[in-house]
Amino acid sequence: MKTAFITGITGQDGAYLAKLLVDKGYEVHGGVRRISQPESPRLEALGVADKVHLHEFDLTEQNNIFRTIRDIPMDEFYNLAAQSFVGASWELPVYTSEADGMAVVRILDTLRTLRPETRFYQASTSEMFGLVQEVPQKETTRLYPRSPYGVAKVLGHHMTMNFRESFGLHASSGILFNHESPLRGKEFVTRKITLGLAALARSGDKPVELGNMDAKRDWGFAGDYVEGMWRMLQQDEADDYVLATGVTTTIRDFFTFAAEELGMDLDWQGAAETETATDRKTGKQVMKVNPKFYRPAEVDLLIGDPSKARDKLGWEARVDVRGLAQMMAKADYDALA
Ligand code: NAP
Ligand code: GDD
Repeated sequence: MKTAFITGITGQDGAYLAKLLVDKGYEVHGGVRRISQPESPRLEALGVADKVHLHEFDLTEQNNIFRTIRDIPMDEFYNLAAQSFVGASWELPVYTSEADGMAVVRILDTLRTLRPETRFYQASTSEMFGLVQEVPQKETTRLYPRSPYGVAKVLGHHMTMNFRESFGLHASSGILFNHESPLRGKEFVTRKITLGLAALARSGDKPVELGNMDAKRDWGFAGDYVEGMWRMLQQDEADDYVLATGVTTTIRDFFTFAAEELGMDLDWQGAAETETATDRKTGKQVMKVNPKFYRPAEVDLLIGDPSKARDKLGWEARVDVRGLAQMMAKADYDALA
């Protein structure tokens, strides 16, 4: 039986990865922050809360990282924990740099010292491409991060490559494009949309307030992406891989797909700050723009080229963006029954 340690096991990806590894027969350990509400709703939703071993773990504590790696035998280490909300990173640039950048250095250096045979996965991100230098983006595309989050993730990404090249660690970096699910955090735009529309469909009357409607993202389903993480660590040689669908969609189109699933027929009017959407069937306004959700610097377009992952890992995204929007809208609508 293999043993895996997952940082961020209570997050969206951590929960799906824990389920995948439990189903594969792994002994799964995970790190959780000490917080005032100890429940793990995502692990419970996937039926694995009582099948994993949880340990207090904080990315920002060097000795905590050291003791965790020293005390838990582990064949694979998945570093999924992070301050993962791009929007918050401008207000928390120091903390984000610590959690998403320096913590990766500390983990790698501790693994090198105590468990050099452990295979390591780093949660890198398409946000590193930022002001994109190439379309579509692939493993070799030049990085140009546009947020403190993106900058911090570039440190973790390059350090993962460097420890692989310097010390021969089996350290892989997954450059994952946006992936979502019914377990997505409520502050991310897809979940904010499906939660808001589900409430409107159930008799609510507050339009969903959003920022930039023109940004484009390459959205897939989180359940597919954790399979790709696992496949990276099963390769003889560690490497870096893009996981993406290869399709890009505006926020507006994602909103429309989710609204259609809930039986709405949208009438879009205006542009930029005056843009609105109204449901022709009920006459309710369902979307308004609130500039407070604009970002100081935006990533306008992300579209990934997943051909390396397809060719070398045999991985591909199975859920398309319309199916994803439908899945999330239905789950949020059903939860309000
Ligand atoms: P998520 O749902 O926000 O989960 C992040 C996890 O990190 C949570 O469990 C959180 O704990 C934990 N965490 C935050 N700060 C911590 C700290 N100081 N010490 C220990 N744990 C801490 O994010 P996700 O969507 O699953 O993403 C997983 C990883 O992939 C992240 O590193 C993210 O940056 C990266 N990524 C995500 C995407 C995407 O589209 N989802 C794309 C590319 C890369 P709490 O449960 O206590 O909050
Ligand atoms: N969150 C949010 N809220 N985003 C909005 C809103 C809003 O009200 N209105 C428009 N947007 C736009 C943002 O400006 C951005 O262009 C896009 O929607 C997506 O925002 P998020 O859903 O917050 O995701 P993200 O792309 O910034 O970051 C996610 O994906 C990255 C991978 O590219 C996160 O999961 C990161 O952790 C991940 O690395």
